[in-house]
Amino acid sequence: MGKDVIIACDFDSAQKTLDFLAKFKGKKPFVKIGMELYYAAGPSIVKELKERGHKVFLDLKLHDIPNTVKKAMAVLSELGVDMCNVHAAGTKRMMSAAIEGLTRADGTRPLLIAVTQLTSTDEQTMHDDLLIDGPIDKVVMHYAQNAMHAGLDGVVCSPLEAGKVHSVCGKSFVTVTPGIRFAGGDVGDQKRVTTPALAKELGSDYIVVGRPITAAEDPVAAYEQCVAEFVG
Ligand code: C5P
Repeated sequence: MGKDVIIACDFDSAQKTLDFLAKFKGKKPFVKIGMELYYAAGPSIVKELKERGHKVFLDLKLHDIPNTVKKAMAVLSELGVDMCNVHAAGTKRMMSAAIEGLTRADGTRPLLIAVTQLTSTDEQTMHDDLLIDGPIDKVVMHYAQNAMHAGLDGVVCSPLEAGKVHSVCGKSFVTVTPGIRFAGGDVGDQKRVTTPALAKELGSDYIVVGRPITAAEDPVAAYEQCVAEFVG
């Protein structure tokens, strides 16, 4: 699994995204399109970025009945995305249906990863709001195993969980990790953060970096610093 830095393009229009990426001149970073940009700009921004040569992680976190997810995934797969995701809470059956929907006629498909517990959900909230007992760590590993058994390629998790996910699900099970900040950088609303260098040390396969790059004075230099620390 090639390590890479994925830039979270959390913008509310296609124009802002294209203006931002124009700063990178010839470079074609791997980008993440989340709900904000997709709901604002629709499938055309995905096609545009693919045509321009970017790899795209479409982060829409699907969670619905298996048949609905399967059909939605078939549509997303035709957009040519490289990676997309579902909530593991949708069950193994839903995740298997997602794989079926994603698989194209020629047998190829984008990588599919699962969200275990959102990093905004802490253990107390999981107990009180979701009525899920036990340590959050155990729940995250159980959901990761469910994803693996359903045939998914990996999970979104904290870099701090990446090592454990690899030991439970195997080295080739992909860990995609947000919550990245430069040493001494602004943490914002992220709770547990690590530097790109530490994420590498902890075994992350991909880091997802938003504001440390998008809000930087020099986004290209910030991206290059991430690559230097994480990919080396
Ligand atoms: O700006 P920042 O680096 O915090 O952006 C992180 C990105 O990763 C955001 O797009 C956020 O939605 C996403 N993400 C996350 N935690 C998760 C799943 C996705 O921060 N558990």
